[in-house]
Amino acid sequence: MTNSDKNRVVIFDTTLRDGEQSPGATMTHDEKLEIAELLDDMGVDIIEAGFPIASEGDFRAVSEIAERAKDAVICGLARAQLPDIDRCWEAVKHAKSPRIHTFIGTSPLHRAIPNLTQDEMAERIEQTVSHARNLCDNVQWSPMDATRTEWDYLCHVVEIAIKAGASTINIPDTVGYTAPRESADLIKRLIETVPGADDVVFATHCHNDLGMATANALAAVEGGARQIECTINGLGERAGNTALEEVVMALKVRNDIMPFHTGIDTTKIMHISRRVSTVSGFPVQFNKAIVGKNAFAHESGIHQDGMLKNAETFEIMRPEDVGIAGTSLPLGKHSGRAALRAKLKELGVDVGDNQLKDIFVRFKDLADRKKEVFDDDILALVSASSEGD
Ligand code: KIV
Ligand code: ZN
Repeated sequence: MTNSDKNRVVIFDTTLRDGEQSPGATMTHDEKLEIAELLDDMGVDIIEAGFPIASEGDFRAVSEIAERAKDAVICGLARAQLPDIDRCWEAVKHAKSPRIHTFIGTSPLHRAIPNLTQDEMAERIEQTVSHARNLCDNVQWSPMDATRTEWDYLCHVVEIAIKAGASTINIPDTVGYTAPRESADLIKRLIETVPGADDVVFATHCHNDLGMATANALAAVEGGARQIECTINGLGERAGNTALEEVVMALKVRNDIMPFHTGIDTTKIMHISRRVSTVSGFPVQFNKAIVGKNAFAHESGIHQDGMLKNAETFEIMRPEDVGIAGTSLPLGKHSGRAALRAKLKELGVDVGDNQLKDIFVRFKDLADRKKEVFDDDILALVSASSEGD
């Protein structure tokens, strides 16, 4: 294996499964097909297309996505029950590269729900992973709530899943409880401790309950994980999942200290972000990293002046790299003369120094009363100022 392969991070997108589980984010069949196509086109390695046993609609969506997928592996989710796994296989089997993802909650709280002893659960894992493996060569297994599972038991069940044929072991931080250093250590220690760990890929699946999902996913990669599970715009249960756009851009922009790479065409990020927001009905917050309306916008005078001189002054990545046409310098009460002059130039208005001074005073007065001053407002100020000359 070359060094570059060892540093390749697989992107597993679960917008259509964990993302859609977010209350109110339900998508129609056609919307799911469209998002799957966009994910495939942008270079997502694995698309978790749904939970086939959950509903007839989910089954149909996963089946059709599987039939249409060009490059991506198509994965379906299944509980640790044989009928779930069979149904999942029925849905994904038409894909060029299908995957079955089966899971069970392994922490004490989660074990109490089906009321299984540790040994009974271990037996169930052995039986269900082997069953999935008999159907499909590509099996992923997840111990749900791994980060609150006893260390010895976690090692034990991961070893059982590997022996039963899982080729990817996902370590979910189901309730967003872990912190970055723990996230890195957990993966590193599992790889060092569990027999057979070197032969499988470790994945990280982080939730954002404490706002640490992106940091935890990146830390897990430093600990040895080579698959990140994530969603567009961070959509997902409760506070959401790791946002695809954040981890991908963090690995690209800070490649100097995190020498890992993905296969994502980052110029497609903005378009898919907008489509997911529209079809899920979940607006993207203005200050959201990478894809928020303000992520490449500067209103204050000092920032606008700096940006007009050198874009690197206040931007660490180029808007074009994430599919945005360019930086924006909205005019508001914090803006200065340099941005006003640039805006007049852009509008094709040529004014002398005195008139600029006058327009600037009028502009500040208006900006104190309005959140944003638009092009038409500026043109009106120009007319008012020339009339006064
Ligand atoms: O958060 C979680 O634990 C999950 C599993 C099904 C992987 O989404
Ligand atoms: Zn999840």
